Amino acid sequence: MSTSSNAAGSDASDTTATTAKLNPGPHSVAPGPAGKRPAPPCTLVIFGAGGDLTKRLLMPALYNLTLDGLLDDGMQIIGVNHGARETQAWRDDLHGALQQFAADKASTFHAGKLDDTAWNSLAKRLEYMGGEFEDDATFAALKQKLDKAPGGNVIFYLAVTARFFKPIVEHLGKAGLLKESDASESDGKSAKSGFRRLVIEKPFGTDLASARDLNAHILNYVQESQVYRIDHFLGKDTVQSILAVRFANALFEPIWRREYIDSVQITAAETIGVEGRGKFYEQTGAFRDMLPNHLFQLLEMVAMEPPNSFDAEAVRDKKAEIADAIKPLTPSDVVFGQYEKGPSGVAYRNEPDVAAESTTETYAAARVFVDNWRWAGVPFYLRTGKRLAVRRTEIAVQLKAVPFLLFRDTPVEALTPNVLTMRIDPAHGTSFDFNVKVPGPLMQIGAVQSSFDYADFFAERANVGYETLLYDCMLGDETLFQRADSIETSWAAVDDVLHPKQGAVKVCGYPAGSTGPKEADELLARDGRTWRPLQTTPDAKK
Ligand code: BG6
Repeated sequence: MSTSSNAAGSDASDTTATTAKLNPGPHSVAPGPAGKRPAPPCTLVIFGAGGDLTKRLLMPALYNLTLDGLLDDGMQIIGVNHGARETQAWRDDLHGALQQFAADKASTFHAGKLDDTAWNSLAKRLEYMGGEFEDDATFAALKQKLDKAPGGNVIFYLAVTARFFKPIVEHLGKAGLLKESDASESDGKSAKSGFRRLVIEKPFGTDLASARDLNAHILNYVQESQVYRIDHFLGKDTVQSILAVRFANALFEPIWRREYIDSVQITAAETIGVEGRGKFYEQTGAFRDMLPNHLFQLLEMVAMEPPNSFDAEAVRDKKAEIADAIKPLTPSDVVFGQYEKGPSGVAYRNEPDVAAESTTETYAAARVFVDNWRWAGVPFYLRTGKRLAVRRTEIAVQLKAVPFLLFRDTPVEALTPNVLTMRIDPAHGTSFDFNVKVPGPLMQIGAVQSSFDYADFFAERANVGYETLLYDCMLGDETLFQRADSIETSWAAVDDVLHPKQGAVKVCGYPAGSTGPKEADELLARDGRTWRPLQTTPDAKK
């Protein structure tokens, strides 16, 4: 996490934004004009150049980095994909896709009109290379091209389906393409020269055994410090801001513990269905797709101890401690659901590429405990699902009730609890629910909400979340990437759910467009709690 890049793209005045200049990581370089500094030169090789990820996320992010002047002049991008194609045709295809997303109000890259200068500058870096991902010839041809890589620096981005991760890494390794040059020693302050880095997308394994196997395979060819495992949630500003809210405000940290916090709810509700990804989803399901990765990442950001600095290892060590402290989940801690025909569409079983008798879950809820001094006894309730009533990703931290009944006509239990809500998507902001006196002669208590919206304070940009991740990878800052040990610890915590000793977890039905299965309500009711409503709060319409 490049701590000085926070203000990039923000026009906020001095009164509303302060550029955090925290202890810079070892790879930080001196800030350029207006605090912006181009990343070191490198060649970015994208495997899966014709895929959706490249079009939807990588290119918009590279375009935004171009706009911000954060790419070195010498930076090149080679797109590798099956099948021969002219570079110009690839560029045109990407340009068309960017224009389409920019014009689409529902897209995270709703930039309006593209800046021609920025696009042209990006386009001239792009070169297409046809080649099979498991063919020696592809890697021999790549090697020739990479002889000219600026500074010898190369990032290999695996934007491909997971079955290609191992063969691509093996071919790269055997072709000698992952070997860093001897001149690559870092002086501890600036980015390495002659670096070779590997960016790997999710899913990183499908359970503990497969994740261990994949890590072991990769680490046959590279050092851990060369591997950048992506969880795109960590690229979101609103997720990074969890640490800012916690550690840049005197208000929250003192109460951030079991003595004051009743429970935490982490929600990632989606209105979309499986969107043509039936084949992938049938094998994956909501739990594997979201829980041990995205939702655990949010939980770790909420629960981690303050690091000594924002140095990558300091932050990742603190997060790893939380992953390690998560009490292994059992089937009784989770509820699985699958959408049936409902107000927002057809049943999951009627989606393309889905089995008529499918038992894959499209909804998962879990009760998680973090077994450490700070969080002992505080439940973290996690839920995620497709085809729910609203799209909303948020973290709600609920404080305990006040200890004493001071107001005769308002029993303590009737008071609305204090809740700090960090809204990740699609609304961006934070709100706090608290109680005040209702105006009038009686001492009556009324619940109110104080709310902050990013858009009211900062010039929000059509940011897809990969900007920071790509930029940090070029800088060699691994703070926002997942380490092998944390990935494995997270899978270990859910292994008993994925491989239950007593038969699979039951999958309960819920209507498409609803708030999920009633069994998920029962999960909280057992603890005397309820989920935060998914339909009625004001940000539901955003
Ligand atoms: C992906 C999952 O990792 O995250 C998808 O595979 C899910 O199923 C997506 O829709 C959610 O991410 P976001 O950023 O749209 O909330």
